[in-house]
Amino acid sequence: MIRSVVRGIGSALPRRIMKNADFEGMVETSDEWIAQRTGIRQRHIAADDETTASLGEAAARAALENAGLTPDDIDLIVLATSTPNNTFPATAVEIQNRLGMRHGFAFDMQAVCSGFVYAVTTADLYIKGGLAKRVLVIGSETFSRILDWTDRSTCVLFGDGAGALVLEAEEGEGSIADRGVLAASLRSDGTHKDKLYVDGGPSTTGTVGHLKMEGREVFKHAVGMITDVIEDVFTQTGISADDLDWFVPHQANKRIIDASAKKLGIADEKAVVTVHMHGNTSAASVPLALSVAVADGRIKKGDLVMLEAMGGGFTWGAVLVRW
Ligand code: UT7
Repeated sequence: MIRSVVRGIGSALPRRIMKNADFEGMVETSDEWIAQRTGIRQRHIAADDETTASLGEAAARAALENAGLTPDDIDLIVLATSTPNNTFPATAVEIQNRLGMRHGFAFDMQAVCSGFVYAVTTADLYIKGGLAKRVLVIGSETFSRILDWTDRSTCVLFGDGAGALVLEAEEGEGSIADRGVLAASLRSDGTHKDKLYVDGGPSTTGTVGHLKMEGREVFKHAVGMITDVIEDVFTQTGISADDLDWFVPHQANKRIIDASAKKLGIADEKAVVTVHMHGNTSAASVPLALSVAVADGRIKKGDLVMLEAMGGGFTWGAVLVRW
């Protein structure tokens, strides 16, 4: 059977780093509160010349270089983002243009923080369906543009950045010993809309709007939702927590990561944690964490890696990949 195998990975971060202490003169908060409640110590914030498209392009170029490929080798770009450069055209098409691609096709996916797991799952189906042989899957966000910088309950939590994977069609045996995307579980439930949303948009206010979150409410649902989709992947594949080499969760809060790992019986040392460096970068968080763990030699060819995310909508999902 056809498998979507990881051929390359890359990432990009804005130049400017903002530390927790930098918020202390802006809103009533402290380095101690932010670090204790979330695990975040710093985040990258985009300058005016750094956009979702430019960060996405840089991550894509890094992934292509890592794969030993050029834009000519790519058939499809799937960009997960909730912070597109423009309402339309799709930022994926802008990235396609920036890469000099005059062939193939590109589109954006909107599943907020779960965007990257949705995008990997979608790219896998395009590859399995024969519509694409090599896909650039990008998560790129500039959440700093939609934050209310006077709201301490949200502005300290998010950061900007991008990560990208190149997925390539390869023949597999059809067993979980294969490399590539092995299983996925995706969910959404719109009844939770008011707990995490942006209060503007083209069809309602005609503005971009600002992020609103009832953090405690989101936290209450996060662990249960994350563990449900991961357990679904365990059931689909017959593997257990012990079989995993790495757990690469969405990086929203260290306490959510720890509680999910504990509930699932995943050893702490298998969890890849980057929330202290990047904050919550929404759809970019999982590929940024993957990039760090591949670059420092933790994730290696053949490793079994569980990706998961949960966010606005609510949306949530998990993807199992053999690297
Ligand atoms: O990526 C999408 C998914 N998003 C998430 O997963 C986020 C989920 N939620 C969370 O991570 C946590 O709920 C937060 C980090 C947002 C908040 O942590 P918490 O432990 O749930 O705190 P809380 O909301 O219960 O707030 C505790 C107190 C409140 O004061 P009172 O009402 O107890 O007097 C807040 O007003 O902390 C206050 N507070 C702050 N204090 C200092 C809220 N934000 C801040 C702040 N600095 N930045």
